[in-house]
Amino acid sequence: MAKIFPSIMCVDYKNIVEEIRTLEKIGADHFHFDVMDGHFVPNFTLGPDMLKTIRSITDIPIDLHLMVEKPENYIDLFEPGKDDIVCIHQESTVHLQKVLSSIREKKSKAGVALNPATPIFMIKHVLCDVDIVCIMTVNPGFAGKKLVPETLNKIKELKTLINEKGLNIEIEVDGNVSFENAVKMKEMGADIFVAGTSSIFNREIGIEEAGKIFRNIIG
Ligand code: DX5
Ligand code: ZN
Repeated sequence: MAKIFPSIMCVDYKNIVEEIRTLEKIGADHFHFDVMDGHFVPNFTLGPDMLKTIRSITDIPIDLHLMVEKPENYIDLFEPGKDDIVCIHQESTVHLQKVLSSIREKKSKAGVALNPATPIFMIKHVLCDVDIVCIMTVNPGFAGKKLVPETLNKIKELKTLINEKGLNIEIEVDGNVSFENAVKMKEMGADIFVAGTSSIFNREIGIEEAGKIFRNIIG
């Protein structure tokens, strides 16, 4: 079954407890937690204290998306657990294999993310070191960005490679995963859908209703 990872950066922080309860009700599989350092991406977002707060509210595991330079220096600050995913960018460290294997040594799940311009072959030789590949379907940094259409072909290319090699890797899509785009992403082979302002947080129909529609669409 496809998985929904609601994006914590899109939550209304004035009503955070209530919104997290609603997200639990719609069957959130993990909470997607965006960390931005103002260098790797031109924005700042959530940090370790915020993650502690989220963990005090819910038991749903975390998908830690590190959009930071040299992620190896910061992973421990977030104290990832065994059900959590730690996802680092291919473009953010020169020692990708080493950092990915250190995440697994800490017993968390290892994820690697690719910016829209980064080809799939850049991670070909670390596929045996990851549990999840996150295809960024927008240029990262802000919610509400537009899909980069070429990234849809990357999902398909990756799916083919995973099948050819018989690997057990889930494909995550992050950015402008609207109801409409989610259909195309699923067709191309996506398994995990990050739900942000384009779907469940669009605020026109409310999280609960939007969550039901999204679940029906992704199956
Ligand atoms: C993008 C972030 C996403 C974002 C997705 O850099 O990683 O989590 O919030 O949401 P929308 O639907 O606004 O693109
Ligand atoms: Zn993200």
